Amino acid sequence: MTPEQLDEVARSAALVERRAESFSTAFYERLFAEWPEARGLFPADLTAQRAKLTDEVVFLAEVASDFDGFVVRARELGARHRGYGATSHGYEAVGSALLAGLAAALGDDLTAGVADAWRGLYRIIAEAMLDGARVTPDPGRARG
Ligand code: HEM
Repeated sequence: MTPEQLDEVARSAALVERRAESFSTAFYERLFAEWPEARGLFPADLTAQRAKLTDEVVFLAEVASDFDGFVVRARELGARHRGYGATSHGYEAVGSALLAGLAAALGDDLTAGVADAWRGLYRIIAEAMLDGARVTPDPGRARG
């Protein structure tokens, strides 16, 4: 990602934070439309999860220019997600849900350039999360 793209995601993340309700509602609607099986992975009441997701997306977008810290955080998040039922197909559905959430929160501010910058950011997050899930030992399978 270019420094300009990093600026764009950080700037639009501030707007996403202010419009968290629109962002997270559109996000989960698109996620479950594209990947209905995922609904059963989450609690019936999504209120807390919507806030956690939005906070994490905003946080990652704002710290992305500190690349090393950002990747470490995404890898740890990915390691926790192994127990949550996250698969590589799932990460594609989440990518499209992210864009739907951004469209709802940003409206006309989601220009083609801003959308591309977020796609770039999400690709790095998803790869780091999958990587974190792969390399971290699974405590459930540990044998003495
Ligand atoms: C394949 C894609 C994904 C699936 C199936 C998934 C699923 C889940 C599930 C089932 C939980 C636990 C909910 C609960 O019972 O409390 C969770 C928690 C969480 N997810 Fe995801 N998730 C995915 C991708 C992501 C992505 C891309 C992000 C952010 C960039 C994210 C951020 C979070 C956060 C912040 C939590 C709160 C708990 C924690 O930090 O470990 N998830 N996710």
